[in-house]
Amino acid sequence: EKVHTPFDAVGEERLHQLVEAFYTRVGQHPDLVPIFPNDLSETARKQKQFLTQYLGGPPLYTSEHGHPMLRARHLPFEITETRAKAWLSCMKEAMDEIGLDGDIREDFYARLFLTAQHMINTSENVE
Ligand code: HEM
Repeated sequence: EKVHTPFDAVGEERLHQLVEAFYTRVGQHPDLVPIFPNDLSETARKQKQFLTQYLGGPPLYTSEHGHPMLRARHLPFEITETRAKAWLSCMKEAMDEIGLDGDIREDFYARLFLTAQHMINTSENVE
């Protein structure tokens, strides 16, 4: 019998729509614009790969880029609590836009929330 993963529940097409909707917002968010590249297409491509495996789908990110080491890969960027909140708000709005709801949304968002806290590497009052 086929094992159903959260990736199966969301589906590849909706996951890709989610990532597109997310980076459209990231590219317009005043707290996030300073640390992201202008062209977000490569970032979005990697995020589709990453979230596919994060949700239990095929290990697309690792196949191309190796171990995610997410916290280490985020260290070059100043990630404050404010920026983590901004990231999560963009994700919440993207979930609204694509109509992701129910348990799958709650579980996915709860995991993203925890991962986002783990990415914080800079205190707010650093001048
Ligand atoms: C890359 C910011 C949280 C997954 C990046 C980049 C920035 C960034 C600036 C580099 C973009 C580029 O140069 O292409 C943030 C901020 C976060 C956050 C401000 C707030 C907490 C997360 C979370 C995840 C995640 C929660 C996963 C669930 C990724 C991935 C990449 C990435 C997979 C691409 C890494 C690579 O270059 O291979 N992020 N991020 N990020 N982020 Fe985040």
